[in-house]
Amino acid sequence: MNRAEAQKRIADLRQQIRRHDHLYYVEAHPEISDLDYDKLYTELKKLEEQFPDLVTPDSPTQRVGGQPLKGFKPIHHAVPMMSLDNTYSIEELREFDNRVRKLLPGEKVEYVLEPKIDGVSVTVIYENGRFTLGATRGDGTTGDDITANLKTIRAIPLQLSVKNPPSLFEVRGEVYIKVADFDKLNTEREKDGEPLFQNPRNTAAGSLKQLDPAIVAQRPLNAVFYAIAAAKGVQIKKQADALEMLKRFGLPTHHHWWVCKSIEEVIARADELQKLESELPFEIDGAVVKVNDLTQWERLGATAKAPRFAIAYKYSHEQAQTKLKNITVQVGRTGVLTPVAELEPVFLAGSTISRATLHNEEEIKRKGIRIGDTVIIEKAGQVIPAVVGVVTEKRTGKERVFQMPEKCPVCNSPVVKREVKATKKDEKKVGVAWCCDNVAGCPAQSIRRIEFFAQRGALDIEGIGGVVSEKLIERGLVKEPLDLFELTTNQLAKLNLGTQDEPRIFGEKNATKVVEALKRAKTFSLAHWLFALGISHVGETTAYQIAQLHTDLSSLAKSAIIFDFLHLQELVAESKRVNPDARTGENKLPCKDERTKADNAEEGRRTRQHAEINSKIVALAKRLQEARVEIKLKPKDLKPKKSGKPPLITVACDELEPEACNSVVDFFAS
Ligand code: IVH
Repeated sequence: MNRAEAQKRIADLRQQIRRHDHLYYVEAHPEISDLDYDKLYTELKKLEEQFPDLVTPDSPTQRVGGQPLKGFKPIHHAVPMMSLDNTYSIEELREFDNRVRKLLPGEKVEYVLEPKIDGVSVTVIYENGRFTLGATRGDGTTGDDITANLKTIRAIPLQLSVKNPPSLFEVRGEVYIKVADFDKLNTEREKDGEPLFQNPRNTAAGSLKQLDPAIVAQRPLNAVFYAIAAAKGVQIKKQADALEMLKRFGLPTHHHWWVCKSIEEVIARADELQKLESELPFEIDGAVVKVNDLTQWERLGATAKAPRFAIAYKYSHEQAQTKLKNITVQVGRTGVLTPVAELEPVFLAGSTISRATLHNEEEIKRKGIRIGDTVIIEKAGQVIPAVVGVVTEKRTGKERVFQMPEKCPVCNSPVVKREVKATKKDEKKVGVAWCCDNVAGCPAQSIRRIEFFAQRGALDIEGIGGVVSEKLIERGLVKEPLDLFELTTNQLAKLNLGTQDEPRIFGEKNATKVVEALKRAKTFSLAHWLFALGISHVGETTAYQIAQLHTDLSSLAKSAIIFDFLHLQELVAESKRVNPDARTGENKLPCKDERTKADNAEEGRRTRQHAEINSKIVALAKRLQEARVEIKLKPKDLKPKKSGKPPLITVACDELEPEACNSVVDFFAS
């Protein structure tokens, strides 16, 4: 390749790599496998070695560069990095709003609500679109120059993705580590016998303090930006516009934020955000509320420490003590039995609490909770209260140990143990749940299924909630969600939601509405339907993804794609099992010099088997990819022997989880 050709190819490769970095780190939607990414990177690296004069500081190969530093240079912040006033209470949020409006008499005030991520605050300067400087907050006026460390973070672009970038663009944000990445890091450290890290925040902070950028590059750091501290040549009038501009320029921003017209809307959104918390891949410690109009920021000014235009609303964990009168058991939509604490009513964070979730049997055991105990309950923000501990000093000796019932409290069927995935945040964690196995016959499950089917976001059948579902089942009018479509207006109109002595009739008007909503539901998309069916492991996202691959419910019921995918999963597991290079586990072969003849024969056999399975995997993965299933290929476990060939496949098919596929297959089979 001549110089001119190389120059063209280098530009093209950089462009591609930047795009894939963005897709992977900012959008969380990679389009290519790690293997293909590495290929692009290696090609670029080789070309740059061949033509060193073509290397530029913003090339993706220059993320980890230079020698370890002796120390960090101090950086003076032209715009100070202030901190925020905090509150834990909704009342104080309202006071904040009063204060703001008092200082801006007669003006309309809008707010922006953003997540408050628990990370390390940083500032990054782009000059003419190029990342030139990055620093820590330090004392707010002077921080450390950590440019080299921040450049290793692939979420942070080295170049802004805009044609005519501002000559100066300084952005503020947070460096953090995702919970799953943190766990993976610690698992690896454990394997290598290294001391474990304490928590994501401290690890992120400790990583940025490293003097050797090569070490920083190995830490799974991520970043998110939420403010523009300085911008030459661009006009920004609102915080919402700033967030949009950051995103447009290719910087990572939060996916969830809201413009709110009033403080009451702020409060509602903060609550919504908290409910989303378990779905977010990182830890948040609350929300930040900011006045939207930047000219108002100027007029509001700041106190010595914090600006008056913003406040951090931290999710409170208010506690109270009360007596645990009894533990009852609730049966959920998928049959999972959940113990519920029946409490002596107590006032906590704005409301009277008489019930709280106990999650599962293990939780009760772990916390040593007994019926009759004085317990500590906690309400995080406005979400459902939970029992967090026992006041053992208050025990009288009359407390009873709780035992999960052996029969379903509703239908009396035997109870079985089932493995369930814990949370989205911690996917690896698997818990055991007690379940009523009477899927078709347990009225409690049917009621919950109908309620779920009709809810907003599913088939949107306003008028069918918990009580109506219960009565429909009780009166034998329906058994399963699909039976709803057989109901007549007349039947529904006569439905008694009360008792015989105190009837409460559903009525003609409501009945007509429901029947119309049902008619409308028939036109909804496959994704809607799939979600509404309430198949376990199939949430809104998975439903959408599965629906993308099929035309209708009947094609899904006999889906080859789903079977192929499951087959692929099995092959991958098998490949891992026979891998002759396995470094851990029972299938690990003895060290080279300790091998017997039989071991060597075993190695040969396994190498052949491994290659055979891997070629099947490749064929199947190809077929799936043709069917538009996105397969993320990861090296590690399937590394073929010595051949020097690039590693093969682990299917990290985020798009279609095996549990979800299994559930879909089971669902249609039953
Ligand atoms: S704005 C002058 N927005 O929280 C106000 N800060 O307790 C600048 N933080 O120092 C901060 N998420 O490190 C803002 N969406 C967000 C934030 C956020 C996290 C951090 C930031 C700040 C600290 C204040």
